[in-house]
Amino acid sequence: MRIAIVGTGYVGLVTGTCFSEMGTDVYCVDIDQNKIEKLKNGIIPIFEPGLDEMVERNYKAGRLHFTTDLGSILNDVDIVFSAVGTPPDEDGSADLKYVLDVARTVGQNLNKYMVIVTKSTVPVGTANLIKKTIREELDKRGLSDLKFDVASNPEFLKEGAAITDFMQPDRVVVGVESEEARRFMEKLYKPFTLNNYRIIYTDIPSAEMIKYAANAMLATRISFMNDIANLCEIVGADVGMVRKGIGADARIGSKFLYAGCGYGGSCFPKDVKALMNTAKKLGYNMQILEAVEAVNEFQKNILFEKLMKYYNGDITGKTIALWGLAFKPKTDDMREAPSLVLIDRIIKAGGKIRAYDPVAMEEAKRHLGDSITYAKDIYDATLDADAILMVTEWNEFRLPTWEVIKKTVNKPVVFDGRNIYNKQEMNELGFDYFGIGIK
Ligand SMILES: NC(=O)c1ccc[n+]([C@@H]2O[C@H](COP(=O)([O-])OP(=O)(O)OC[C@H]3O[C@@H](n4cnc5c(N)ncnc54)[C@H](O)[C@@H]3O)[C@@H](O)[C@H]2O)c1
Repeated sequence: MRIAIVGTGYVGLVTGTCFSEMGTDVYCVDIDQNKIEKLKNGIIPIFEPGLDEMVERNYKAGRLHFTTDLGSILNDVDIVFSAVGTPPDEDGSADLKYVLDVARTVGQNLNKYMVIVTKSTVPVGTANLIKKTIREELDKRGLSDLKFDVASNPEFLKEGAAITDFMQPDRVVVGVESEEARRFMEKLYKPFTLNNYRIIYTDIPSAEMIKYAANAMLATRISFMNDIANLCEIVGADVGMVRKGIGADARIGSKFLYAGCGYGGSCFPKDVKALMNTAKKLGYNMQILEAVEAVNEFQKNILFEKLMKYYNGDITGKTIALWGLAFKPKTDDMREAPSLVLIDRIIKAGGKIRAYDPVAMEEAKRHLGDSITYAKDIYDATLDADAILMVTEWNEFRLPTWEVIKKTVNKPVVFDGRNIYNKQEMNELGFDYFGIGIK
């Protein structure tokens, strides 16, 4: 089978590479010439564990191709996936510009039956828009009778564990509206069915909705726990113990119950907003999601508020060591990272930042320029620091040699945005310690 994946970002590159790993012939297409050239030269434009070897293996085997020209390969493939970005528009709705650009290119070049599958996260109704756009282009070319199908196959991979998530999925959701499209999708996903992974076939609007509902649910769990954590601090409870206590209930489960300094990334913030926006346009108010967003905004500021309280409202001239810049560990993705909010507030309040992240430093420079100092490692970040702020829970931050750090800091105080250290241990080491939801 031969497929094209349009959009070679976090989702498109992983998806294309993983399908090629299963023996499919894959064309990865992107309008970014520079990105495609890099890939042809073996340079992977994103950090994703395990991806570089897999790309190299399949590229060398001739199953993975990179191109900027969708039109030239379109009629050589059986399925086209669209995995382009759907960033938030000014009003919070998903911007479908890139998705519809792809649909137009398909309509301008299509000469045979094909299934056009949306992998990007798109609002309910987008498949119909794609169909209409392709049909208009075919009509212009006098090809009104040419048959094609659209389908929805939302992606659930997590950055940092994307390959495992794709190769060993909890489930694959496929929204189709014709038997023929279903047969094509069944064929493509056969290697996954052979391995007993669950493929759920739905109608298209339900598939589109499943992706938003899943992300909104996960964001809700995080904000719920953050709300509980903040109350824990007031009443004198420990959110870590509360998490274990409620997570042991099989009806609740233990995942996504960690309190912290807010969620970020390229998906949760924009998808929560887009879902609320879809509802609002149709006259419905998603009250729970409004609260989820409000709690998250509050939480992204919480380390700053704790820091200000510690220094009686004045951090002018203070040096703040910041550990972790990426929105979560094992990725270089800085989109909507809580660290950005924190850095902005600290700088505006007159503080100086010395930051370190194991892989997101280059990406951070694109966002922050020279407004902060980039340290060599966590120890370098803490030189003369008046506080340490732990923002992203990279494994290598879990067990630092505090005795060394104690000698280099100006003031031994740690604000732990992910609750990875133990308050009593930190106090015994001579550090003041503040977590989230810990008295
Ligand atoms: N990043 C994630 O963890 C994740 C997980 C699940 C779903 N998603 C969804 O998947 C979609 C893609 O996300 P991403 O993070 O991979 O985005 P990304 O920004 O990393 O990549 C998008 C790519 O599309 C390319 N592109 C734009 N217009 C194009 C066109 N007309 N033709 C060819 N290429 C074009 C861009 O150059 C870019 O390389 C989004 O809808 C996102 O919500 C993302």
